[in-house]
Amino acid sequence: MKNLVILDNPLVKRDVTILRDKLTNSKDFRAALDRVSYSLVIEIAKSFELVEHEVETPLEITKGFKFRKQIVLVPVLRAGLSMVSSFLEMIPDAKVGHIGLQRDEKTLQPIDYYYKTPNKLGESLTILLDPMLATGGSAVASFNSLKEKGANNCILACLISAPEGVDKMFVEHPSVPIYTAAYDRQLNKNGYILPGLGDAGDRTFGTY
Ligand code: PRP
Ligand code: URA
Repeated sequence: MKNLVILDNPLVKRDVTILRDKLTNSKDFRAALDRVSYSLVIEIAKSFELVEHEVETPLEITKGFKFRKQIVLVPVLRAGLSMVSSFLEMIPDAKVGHIGLQRDEKTLQPIDYYYKTPNKLGESLTILLDPMLATGGSAVASFNSLKEKGANNCILACLISAPEGVDKMFVEHPSVPIYTAAYDRQLNKNGYILPGLGDAGDRTFGTY
């Protein structure tokens, strides 16, 4: 599907299984989520534009590379926080913004409670981090806010996505590539992804 990259990697499939398993405790859940996040950042980085420059080794001058754009990571609170450390470990000079959204349990509409991103989003590559793309309401609202602040080169990184959320992103933000570790079947009547992994925030932070 155009603009949807589904990771195809045995390491990821094994770890997504650990994440799905209702018997996995928060400690093991966070560890598996870290590992999948590493695979996501490695896949996403294949699309980064590079600029060549000279580097002097102890022996001679050769060709080196740096990223063309500043990378800005934006986790969606709370569950997105769990993806930050892996991304930052691989991109230590990334800047980090935060968007606070809470899905209303009845209407499923996102309610925003926090927004803070670095300046100059227009010159950056902005990567939104959120493990779950369900109805797509939170991702669409996040990109609406980011684009209002000037972001024009954006990527969505998630663990599990549902067709409903992917379709909504294709309509509302067709220029944003989506990278996902798994593309699941559907939503249930409460807006949870099936088969999914349950509530990502609760399972990460043990709030159940
Ligand atoms: C979860 C998840 C996404 C959102 C996805 O967050 O982390 O942000 O739901 O659902 P959507 O695609 O239907 O908008 P939640 O609102 O449960 O908040 P939390 O991270 O604080 O648990
Ligand atoms: N948010 C979650 O944490 N899980 C879902 O399945 C849907 C939204």
